[in-house]
Order: sequence, then structure tokens, then C-alpha cells
Amino acid sequence: MKITILSASPRNNGFSFESANYIHSYFKKNNIDSILLDIKNLNIHPCDGCGFCHFHKKCKFQDDFALFFDAINSCDLFFCITPVYFSGPPSQFKKLIDRCQIFWELKYTHNTKPFCLNHNPKSIVILYGGASHHDFQFKSTLDIIDIFYKSINTTIDKTFTFPNTDNIELSNEFLEQFAQTINLHSL
Ligand SMILES: Cc1cc2nc3c(=O)[nH]c(=O)nc-3n(C[C@H](O)[C@H](O)[C@H](O)COP(=O)(O)O)c2cc1C
Repeated sequence: MKITILSASPRNNGFSFESANYIHSYFKKNNIDSILLDIKNLNIHPCDGCGFCHFHKKCKFQDDFALFFDAINSCDLFFCITPVYFSGPPSQFKKLIDRCQIFWELKYTHNTKPFCLNHNPKSIVILYGGASHHDFQFKSTLDIIDIFYKSINTTIDKTFTFPNTDNIELSNEFLEQFAQTINLHSL
């Protein structure tokens, strides 16, 4: 089994990164192949809607999007861990999502099957929000992740939401409880 973990927060040592790191260390300790992609270390140019991929079956930008492409292509399980910013994903994550336009073009314009369109990895989505829980806190972010997943042919297996992070201490106890909540040890 191969695991890809995306930490989609631009913040150093916040909830997304620390929980991604916890999951990554757990799999490494158990000799399970796992890669941690940290959005703040990825150099991803935003899509400018130029239409290049519509005509050329590839993107004109050559950057760290290729790392995501390879990691998602080869994994069986994808952890997507993101905070909510103004009800949506942080802009650093949205840049990556918008670059997935290449997959729509490959599928619907060029009728070709890129990588994971044959592959369909499962995914666990983990969302953090600083505000105390309210009904629509995670809705828009999940709507965006849903269409992002359609582009990469991934299905959401489980979603876990953690509100109120701005009032919670990010401690070892939190991370141990987090691991229990997502059932990490029985994956
Ligand atoms: C620009 C910005 C916008 C935010 N917008 C929201 C929001 O709409 N809803 C919410 O619950 N929390 C919001 N927060 C709080 C973050 O979701 C929270 O601090 C979260 O823990 C950050 O994730 P991280 O710890 O992984 O960096 C916002 C934080 C920032 C910096």
C-alpha cells in the first residue's frame, strides 16, 4: 500500500501540518510507503486560464505540481488535510486545485486517460476550522474538494471535521486523540 499525505496549510506547525506529520511518522514506523507533501514548500504557479492544456495536452508551467501528479498517480490512499480560510481552502491549496484543469482537458477535450483516471485511490479528508462549530463551517471547502476529487478520479472514503482549533491547544494529547478519531491504527 502506498500513502500520499497532503498538508494544505501555509502555517508552520499548525494543526494540518502536525497531524499530517503524525500520520506520516506512523506509516514510516510501520514500514508503509508514505509521502508527505507540504503545500508551503511546493512551488506551484497559479493557473492563468491560458488554454494551453486545451490545445497541447499539457500545462505550460513546469513546477512542483509534477510532485503532486506523481504522488497521486501512484498512491492507494490519499490524506487531504486542510484548514478552512474564509469558508474555502487556503489560496496555496487552491492554486494546486486549479492546476488540475489539465485533467479535465485530458479527459473531456483529448479523450485520453491520465494516470489516476484508471486508478481511483481512496481518500480521507480532514478539515480544521478555527471558529466554534456551525452548520456551514466546512460546506464550501467540501464542495470544492468534491470537484477537485472528480478531476483526479478520487473518492472520499471518510471526512473528519475539527472545529474550534483557535481555542484548542495543539498538544501530543490532541494528536493522540486525533489518531483515535480517524482510526489511524486500524487503517
Ligand atoms: C485567513 C484566514 C481565514 C480563516 N477563515 C476561517 C473560516 O472561515 N472559518 C473557520 O472556522 N476558521 C477560519 N480560520 C481559522 C483557521 O481555520 C484555523 O486557525 C486553522 O486551525 C488553521 O489551520 P492550521 O492550524 O492547519 O494552520 C481562518 C484563518 C485564517 C488565517
